[in-house]
Amino acid sequence: MEKSSGKKNTAVLISGRGSNLRSLIKYSKTKKSLIKIVLVVSDNFNAKGLSYANKSNINNISIKYSNKKIFEDRLLKLLKRYNVDLICLAGFMKILSGSFIKKFYKPILNIHPSLLPKYKGLNTHNRAIQNKDKYSGATVHIVNEKLDSGRIILQKKVKILKSDNGKSLEKRILKIEHKIYPKAITRLLTNY
Ligand code: GRF
Repeated sequence: MEKSSGKKNTAVLISGRGSNLRSLIKYSKTKKSLIKIVLVVSDNFNAKGLSYANKSNINNISIKYSNKKIFEDRLLKLLKRYNVDLICLAGFMKILSGSFIKKFYKPILNIHPSLLPKYKGLNTHNRAIQNKDKYSGATVHIVNEKLDSGRIILQKKVKILKSDNGKSLEKRILKIEHKIYPKAITRLLTNY
């Protein structure tokens, strides 16, 4: 059980690389941070991102995803045990059910690599390039029961260059993601 430090106890959910987790850990260690990351959960035992939690001595747990109900029940128990006030999804590849969202009853944020409501789901960068969009970007939004559809907290545009391919655009947008996720958390928690 985590004691209250005046900061919101936060759980970060990941499935893979964890670069956003790394940026959230970095932010959480700053003076101005409004969160304390008390728990990292992965549905993938081999997620590279788990190493960032380990390096910073943050409790991290992998839960086998055999089915949604079992996974979410275990997750809810953990969130209760760690007194979690806020969940940040950071490259978490499973869709949380409406029932989970209702039961948790506190904010859940997600970061998505497009200018929502454009390009929900996967393969966002190639879709933006194929459609000859001038801009793409990243969005932090509240999670509701519909995929990539909740209230937008913060969004930032990135210009698509003529020379861009999916990989190069992903790289530039990822850098922006790392900046806006902490900002969106501040905005959410201060109603700014
Ligand atoms: C990011 O592009 C994020 O927007 C999307 O999944 C990717 C996760 O990357 N939801 P990482 O695991 O944080 O490096």
